[in-house]
Amino acid sequence: MQFPEHTLEVLLRLVDVGVHVVDANGVTRYYNDAAAKLEGLDPSQVIGRHILDVYPSLDGQSSTLLQVASTLQPVLNHQQAFTHYKGKRITTVNSTWPIVVDGQLQGVVEVSKDITEVRQLSERLVDLQARIFDQPSKKSERQTTRYTFDDLIGQDRSFVELKRMALRAAASSSSVLVCGETGTGKELLVQSIHHASPRGSKPFVAQNCAALPETLLESILFGTIRGSFTGAENRPGLFELADGGTLFLDEINAMPPSLQVKLLRVLQERYIRRIGDSRVRPVDVRIMTAMNIDPWQAVQQGQLREDLYFRINVVQLEIPPLRQRPDDLPLLVQHFLDKYNRQLGKHVMGLSDAVKQLFYTYSWPGNVRELEHAIEGALNITDQDVIELSQLPAHLVRVECYRPGVDNAAVTLQPGQTLRETLAEVEMLLIEQAMRQSENNISQAAALLGIPRQTLQYRLRALHLA
Ligand SMILES: Nc1ncnc2c1ncn2[C@@H]1O[C@H](COP(=O)(O)OP(=O)(O)OP(=O)(O)O)[C@@H](O)[C@H]1O
Ligand SMILES: [Mg+2]
Repeated sequence: MQFPEHTLEVLLRLVDVGVHVVDANGVTRYYNDAAAKLEGLDPSQVIGRHILDVYPSLDGQSSTLLQVASTLQPVLNHQQAFTHYKGKRITTVNSTWPIVVDGQLQGVVEVSKDITEVRQLSERLVDLQARIFDQPSKKSERQTTRYTFDDLIGQDRSFVELKRMALRAAASSSSVLVCGETGTGKELLVQSIHHASPRGSKPFVAQNCAALPETLLESILFGTIRGSFTGAENRPGLFELADGGTLFLDEINAMPPSLQVKLLRVLQERYIRRIGDSRVRPVDVRIMTAMNIDPWQAVQQGQLREDLYFRINVVQLEIPPLRQRPDDLPLLVQHFLDKYNRQLGKHVMGLSDAVKQLFYTYSWPGNVRELEHAIEGALNITDQDVIELSQLPAHLVRVECYRPGVDNAAVTLQPGQTLRETLAEVEMLLIEQAMRQSENNISQAAALLGIPRQTLQYRLRALHLA
């Protein structure tokens, strides 16, 4: 596709990352509004002037733009803190690339993302956690673990076996890697293991590795000591806060590879060094990790370093998706009915036959979380004894058909086919699918299709399906 003229310029003006481009001599050629807002400058003060004129406190070394212009090596994800002219303390993550054409340096481009607020929020969270763990008198408040093995509902053979292995893992301090699709209960399992382990009375600290930019994640994990350039304060990291307990690193495959190397070192050497510190501190932390793709696939795709994979995968627990645990369905349904009946003051006894049937054939891509939400949603709107199809989210009740020989579900007129013929074919495919889904129960299929039972019977005869 050809971009219309000026598209790129409009785009650069609209994005909320700062973009600063200098030529090979260090004179600014482009400086967008986001960069100006970030630094509290006016573009006219910057464009056409040399970097060192605009930022007198910098020199050839400390200016990343000039540094990259001389080394021709990109500098990626570099955290920087500064006070802009209104006295506001700003933290950014910058990436700087040389623009080289035919072996000649044409200029340098730097993009900056403002992470001031994310950083403040993360640090406040660390401070609050530190304060909670510091109050030995308030044991109930200190207990951040919410789930235990009793909360893990399931009777399917695969699930019972998983629970048995998890209970055994609770007795040791070995690293545990939990994998499973979204909503299968990974966090619940990890918390249960911690709670049942000898570390159960010590802190449980969780961090999602996909939630923060690399530099911030590093300082949150390992802690910092006061330093003007990074704007850091003396602050313990999550490793120190979790001392004696468990650190749960969720979505570990989203952790940038360079940080994975540092994590591996901590796991092997069992001490940490706060960023900017020369001193090392011993830590006794059990590491549990989770991810929602196959870990070996994550290794193959370069998301997870192989050496780290072997280190964190001492005990591997795989939670099967809900669709592969049909025996868990009735138990979970009852569990969530009880929970939301209690919460909402309702008296729903169960599911209609059509809903039961649907629950067993539906693929549950969001697993237990999706089931829980479906039941909670239905209980909010029902005034009947059982949950009906009409009270479920629309996407759950959808009947999909695939036309033989056509790759996607979009309906297209085949050459030589009329509109009437195509509609009849689609109707037939949908009715067949609904009949399959309801195991030839006409009432259930009619409910799935949203038509009266008599209409379905009539259509079945008309389409020669009955
Ligand atoms: N076996 C179970 N018994 C009872 N509740 C469960 C079970 N499994 C999951 N849940 C419920 O499903 C919801 C999702 O669980 P959890 O947050 O542990 O999933 P997850 O695997 O960590 O998902 P994600 O990958 O999206 O983070 C929670 O509300 C939890 O209580
Ligand atoms: Mg989770």
